Amino acid sequence: MSKPKVFVTRIIPERGLTRILQHTDATVWQDELPPPRDVLLERAHDCDGLVTLLTDKVDGELFDAAPRLKVVANYAVGFDNIDIPAATKRGIPVTNTPGVLTETTADLAFTLIMACGRRIAEGRDYAKSGKWRTWGPLLLLGQDIYGATIGIAGIGRIGYAVARRAKAFNMTILYNDAVRSDMAEKELGAQYVSKQELLARSDFLSLHVPLTPETRHYINTDALALMKPNAVLVNTSRGPVVDTMALFEALKAHRIFAAGLDVTDPEPLPADHPLYTLDNALIVPHIASASFETRNRMADLAADNLIAGLEGRLPPNCLNPDVMRK
Ligand code: DGY
Repeated sequence: MSKPKVFVTRIIPERGLTRILQHTDATVWQDELPPPRDVLLERAHDCDGLVTLLTDKVDGELFDAAPRLKVVANYAVGFDNIDIPAATKRGIPVTNTPGVLTETTADLAFTLIMACGRRIAEGRDYAKSGKWRTWGPLLLLGQDIYGATIGIAGIGRIGYAVARRAKAFNMTILYNDAVRSDMAEKELGAQYVSKQELLARSDFLSLHVPLTPETRHYINTDALALMKPNAVLVNTSRGPVVDTMALFEALKAHRIFAAGLDVTDPEPLPADHPLYTLDNALIVPHIASASFETRNRMADLAADNLIAGLEGRLPPNCLNPDVMRK
């Protein structure tokens, strides 16, 4: 019996890729950049399965171009690149990679919190540039993290893991979400507050909301105006959750202290973007889940999900399980 045909839209870590190659007749896109749209549509044509990334738009047009498609395994926990209703309408299960990247992503959010609060990137540049001539009482003063107030916007898995780190730093933990978290309140002493209060009281504000029409520009000019002048904003969710130009203006005018961005809008942020000119903006290229072990685990999970879907079983991380029950 011939193996199912699969297109993998980028080279993913070997641990998952080896299993995909053993179980399927897979083609792997070798370029560093994602396959262009026309190539993706063409490659998907005779595929039973797709392994996609957050950089691939997976929508009705793609599903219609792939009449044999049995499963889409997205190599990410976020799935705003995928039109789930369009997949469900066509009976195609879609999967993601939750859980395995929670702690690694929370580590990076906390890294940005600390790096921005304590001006680490500026300090590195200063030391390297030859400006460092003596110990200075007023040199590169920053914000205390220990004992400060942190606001968590979205207390799902990753937001909770950031709050857990904050507790170890004796921080006052505020959060806002569509639903209250008993666990965060009982185990971490987190206080549920309105979005306005979250903005107004946080010394550090860490964003963990998924990107939806409601959360697009969750941080805009009005939101930034409510924040404290010493506040640090950290975004490890999705770029469009923050209005980039509103943030640029606020940072430039020192209306807030600093921002640490793992995700941007647009993404990638072009090298000539004005945000890079600001000392109080620390931008890294969407690396929150980028540890060796976590990326391996994501590849394992994507392989599990793909193989299950191809075999007609319910994938472990199915986002639209109803399609399997039909
Ligand atoms: C995700 O998984 O959604 C991250 O953004 C990348 O790991």
